[in-house]
Amino acid sequence: MALLLHTWMNPRHDGAEEEGVTYPTKQLLHSLTYRRKVPRPIVNLLKEKKENKIMGSLEEERTTVGWAARDPSGILSPYTYNLRNTGPDDVYIKVYYCGICHSDLHQIKNDLGMSNYPMVPGHEVVGEVLEVGSNVSRFKVGEVVGVGLLVGCCKNCRPCQSDIEQYCSKKIWSYNDVYIDGKPTQGGFAETMIVEQKFVVKIPEGLTPEQVAPLLCAGVTVYSPLSHFGLKERGLRGGILGLGGVGHMGVKIAKALGHHVTVISSSEKKKEEALEHLGADQYLVSSDTTAMQEAADSLDYIIDTVPVGHPLEPYLSLLKLDGKLILMGVINTPLQFVSPMVMLGRKSITGSFIGSIKETEEMLEFWKEKGLSSMIEVVNIDYINKAFERLEKNDVRYRFVVDVKGSKLDQ
Ligand SMILES: NC(=O)c1ccc[n+]([C@@H]2O[C@H](COP(=O)([O-])OP(=O)(O)OC[C@H]3O[C@@H](n4cnc5c(N)ncnc54)[C@H](OP(=O)(O)O)[C@@H]3O)[C@@H](O)[C@H]2O)c1
Ligand SMILES: [Zn+2]
Ligand SMILES: [Zn+2]
Repeated sequence: MALLLHTWMNPRHDGAEEEGVTYPTKQLLHSLTYRRKVPRPIVNLLKEKKENKIMGSLEEERTTVGWAARDPSGILSPYTYNLRNTGPDDVYIKVYYCGICHSDLHQIKNDLGMSNYPMVPGHEVVGEVLEVGSNVSRFKVGEVVGVGLLVGCCKNCRPCQSDIEQYCSKKIWSYNDVYIDGKPTQGGFAETMIVEQKFVVKIPEGLTPEQVAPLLCAGVTVYSPLSHFGLKERGLRGGILGLGGVGHMGVKIAKALGHHVTVISSSEKKKEEALEHLGADQYLVSSDTTAMQEAADSLDYIIDTVPVGHPLEPYLSLLKLDGKLILMGVINTPLQFVSPMVMLGRKSITGSFIGSIKETEEMLEFWKEKGLSSMIEVVNIDYINKAFERLEKNDVRYRFVVDVKGSKLDQ
């Protein structure tokens, strides 16, 4: 299991190297037989990266400071490291704000058994352009831009050619990965970042930077599957399972699309906010079997954001004929259901991974056009460990966003 998840988190560390076994089988066998914690030798990674020069530019380095986890305790503290100089295709960014996603928590705590330290997490980044390389024409110094979970891809494979680079098997993650120069990538809880222009998006004028930060991962993670699975039509009935960072974006976006939205939550705690502030139409507590039964066969889709193992059947039964259960949570235990639950109703269980740069740009325009806002709690970097602790306890409404620019990082 760790290996399948490792592929999710870092495709180059798949460990599927034996001869004579087809790739998916190899991967599955590995995943079922042992838990590999040691990544492939760094020398292979270096070789792969060097062969792939088109992905970015590599020059001399400069220094920055971020907050890094050093071990699976996940405690972050100041960390100084080097960034490459701005090459021809690069944008040098001063970070203003960075959201805290549950994926950051999975990563710093080594939930998937594949974390490398020191690790500066953060992949919902909004900042200002400080400098651009000679090939960069889309961005100007002083502009406000965003960066999400990816900073590299191969540009040649089918997903890359189809503008869905998030499904490239050579994608590079904004942290806990290795860049084409063989150095670790580091994320957005840092003073500055250098990112190839392809992975930078313009933030439309009029949007406030801290409000936008959660869109760079949570927002597009919801927007992309609704778009891909043809679920943007007005009047659909959608379910949002788990009202956290991704879930609250789900309510906002689905409502703006004109859907009837049901929040399915583990408690009553968020009911009033969901109905009165976020604009949901209905609220179900998953343990209330009567209410769940009454809602059976009523939803066209469910965006499932629960980050831990959970039964699927109660939610499958909420779906109508041809309904879709779209898994978002990164869960390191197998999920179960009996087959008639999907057969009798031709239902689908599927998953979706963030969104492309193109979808991010589209979603930002949609967000602006509809005049949406996110519900966030802005905190200083010295609160970040507490914020992670509260996120783990399901105690945030609904996304922490770190004011990186207003924080003193090096103390
Ligand atoms: N697929 C992707 O591309 C993608 C992108 C972003 C995040 N993710 C993953 O999606 C999941 C959700 O991310 P998020 O940032 O929205 O997380 P989050 O803010 O922690 O929200 C998760 C929600 O799930 C519910 N929940 C039920 N059982 C829980 C438990 N034992 N612990 C914590 N929450 C529980 C809670 O909602 P209620 O109180 O309403 O029950 C909670 O607010 C994570 O696994 C994350 O890694 C995936
Ligand atoms: Zn995320
Ligand atoms: Zn590719």
